[in-house]
Amino acid sequence: MYSVTEDAMNSFSKAIDPRLAHVMALMVKHLHAFVSESKITKEEWMMGLEFLTASATITTEERNEFSLMSDIMGISSMVDVVSQPPGTSPSSVLGPFHNHDSSTHPNGADLVKGQDGKKTWVHGRVLDIHGKPIAHAQIDFWQNANNGLYPAQDPEQDPQNLRCKIECDEQGQFDFLTIRPLPYTVPTDGPVGALLRAANRHWWRPAHFHFIVSAPGYLGLVTEIFPSDTPYIDNDTVFGVRPGLVIDFKPCQNKQVANKYKLKEDFEEATFEFKLAQIK
Ligand SMILES: [Fe+2]
Repeated sequence: MYSVTEDAMNSFSKAIDPRLAHVMALMVKHLHAFVSESKITKEEWMMGLEFLTASATITTEERNEFSLMSDIMGISSMVDVVSQPPGTSPSSVLGPFHNHDSSTHPNGADLVKGQDGKKTWVHGRVLDIHGKPIAHAQIDFWQNANNGLYPAQDPEQDPQNLRCKIECDEQGQFDFLTIRPLPYTVPTDGPVGALLRAANRHWWRPAHFHFIVSAPGYLGLVTEIFPSDTPYIDNDTVFGVRPGLVIDFKPCQNKQVANKYKLKEDFEEATFEFKLAQIK
């Protein structure tokens, strides 16, 4: 008997890369099942294609609407979940504001440089999955400022504001002074924003720090750390929050730290241990 689904799946079987053959056949199988189950109309399918066309039109080097679509449907997070090696810290979405050219700062750097915001001393270690410190692991860090904006969104900010690369010490330890991040919205001026409005969804993300943690011989980790008391912690519009990435930002009484950074006001600390898997 004639089966569109089987024929379409088989049409990829001669792909030179067997992984491509496997993935495309499965994608066809599940998309056909979606069409069949939803009984989608021709008009609705055409609306979907127009949505993709509008997404392509608005996509630039700095702003990828397809990436955002993947995020707000929870697909980026599902890819993170299925690709997490056992025993490692959970990964989370990269987001659109990572920059490869962050300056390298010494361990213990002050990123605040007098700007507004709740001062937060961030410190922690980078370990392997057995708890052994990874000497000289690299931290790549970025966050938004006290107005909720990243430097790329805000011409008033130094492009290097509140981001850095830091090399951990022999014991895999790192620390720096920054400010508490703020919740912010994903871009809503494109087709994804229209979809969120049509779906009666909000477009907020809970406050978070971004980290990429890496070391030679280990799988790099792209992740986020969330303060437990931030708004939207239970309903992140991109589904990036995972158990194991939410921590309490606690009042800090450490006098050495207060003296080092000349802190007169109350400040907080945020502590985290990143666990990386070795490359086999
Ligand atoms: Fe972010």
